[in-house]
Amino acid sequence: MADIRTLTTSQLRQASPGERFKVLGVIKQIKSRSDKNNRPFWDLSLVDSEGSIDAKVWSDGKWWDTRSCERTPFEPASSNMASLVLNAPVVVIGTASEFRGKQQYQFLEVFLLDPERFPISGFIQSSPVPVERMEEEFRAMISSCGPGVRTFLEKVFSGDLWKSFRELPAAVSHHHAYVHGLLEHTLSVARGARALAETYKSSGVEMDLDIVTAGGLLHDIGKIESYKLDPFPSMTIPGTVIDHIALGFSRFTDLAREHGLDGDLVTAIGHILISHHGRKEYGSPVLPATPEAMVVSSADELDFIMFCWSVFPESGSGEPSISDYHPSAQRRFWRREISEEDGS
Ligand SMILES: [Fe+2]
Ligand SMILES: [Fe+2]
Repeated sequence: MADIRTLTTSQLRQASPGERFKVLGVIKQIKSRSDKNNRPFWDLSLVDSEGSIDAKVWSDGKWWDTRSCERTPFEPASSNMASLVLNAPVVVIGTASEFRGKQQYQFLEVFLLDPERFPISGFIQSSPVPVERMEEEFRAMISSCGPGVRTFLEKVFSGDLWKSFRELPAAVSHHHAYVHGLLEHTLSVARGARALAETYKSSGVEMDLDIVTAGGLLHDIGKIESYKLDPFPSMTIPGTVIDHIALGFSRFTDLAREHGLDGDLVTAIGHILISHHGRKEYGSPVLPATPEAMVVSSADELDFIMFCWSVFPESGSGEPSISDYHPSAQRRFWRREISEEDGS
């Protein structure tokens, strides 16, 4: 194994076709499949603290158990493989290849590692932004509001609610699907919405910045009941069958009643929560009807697509890079080569 490079999942996206690599991670998903000749193989998803990759282990792939001092062959069993290896730390040896312009990975050997020496907490992805910095910005945004909204937000974002809000992901896979992801996404939306609000306010649109801030910070409050860390991001049953918009609106009206928020503010902020997906087919029963709701909804969509753009892997070939079709964003993304003359 000595001359094989050890890569993280994000470095692996730059691997050249044919390159052999080692990756250390945790098995997050495993499914038994059969190829066209009816030979069994495994579809496997491996995560580390930088992301995840999907790979195949063909029937001639080797499995080894190194959890005790000795290395012994491990026989994969299709009936209960998930219970044997799910959330297991492993090191794999694999190769990268390209199929129809898309990077693919094959694991040739999988070594099960001792979970005591490689605890799962070391493989869980977290926001790239330091949480203390995000917390500071979040508190500064609340402090910038007038007394009515400020006091309400201070009461809401405290205790157990704040503990969950600070920790949880914003999604399971589409965007900010990691520890502190909800906080990172919320801040980005509130920041973007406030910038848009300032722009329109300066051109004469009547805009209440406190309502924009409260709407931005609260817009995804329903996600604290929709997602959990298990230890990886996953969806709760209420999140699946009720969804974060309805859960969030319900939680918000309870909090407004509990903390005596003024009735007009309840409607104005509640409207932002319920309309923030911007379209009925995206889960909002009403469309944004106020300038404050329009800027929060726009900032929310922008943050989602900007995130999708920012994480699509570079081709590394020097050619203009086009992403695979992204079903949720309904487009292919383009990462344009920027020449020296192009910009500062
Ligand atoms: Fe949302
Ligand atoms: Fe959102």
